[in-house]
Amino acid sequence: MRLFTFCVCFAFLGACGDDDDTPRMDGGADALVNGCPSHEDPIAMPGDDVDGDTYETFAAPFLERFCTRCHSSTLEGDFARGGAPEGLDWDLEAEVRENAEYLRYVIGVSNEMPPIGTRPSCDERRRFVRWVDVGAP
Ligand code: HEC
Repeated sequence: MRLFTFCVCFAFLGACGDDDDTPRMDGGADALVNGCPSHEDPIAMPGDDVDGDTYETFAAPFLERFCTRCHSSTLEGDFARGGAPEGLDWDLEAEVRENAEYLRYVIGVSNEMPPIGTRPSCDERRRFVRWVDVGAP
């Protein structure tokens, strides 16, 4: 069900891109979605220099700052989780790695998470995307 929503979103965004044949006025920068660039395409490749970012030094603290207030294995029930679906727990490294592309999407393509509260800057979103694109070291 969730995967389905995810795929539909991708198909929809893809279709919009293809229909749009007006020249880009922004020098090729990604379109803004929810106030930040939407990084549909990879912005880095495995092996690229990412300033030493790893799960421990960057991704975990990022998720801790912006996500685990709702998405945590230590929280139970809709109220405590702020409505975040059970089983989507970003305090668990294995869960994060398994869902890395999904997190990349909501953080740096649809820019929809977190829904409320402290939101990452556009640069911080981009940095998370880059971490996933180089293979989530
Ligand atoms: C204030 C609580 C809250 C925070 C903080 C939060 N989320 Fe969520 N998250 C939700 C709720 C509520 C839903 C289910 C509703 C929805 O899908 O929009 C959700 C759904 C999701 C989903 C499933 C999306 C879908 O469309 O089914 C993902 C993936 C996700 N969140 C990732 C994140 C990430 C990554 C962060 C941090 C950058 C984050 N969330 C921060 C509340 C939160």
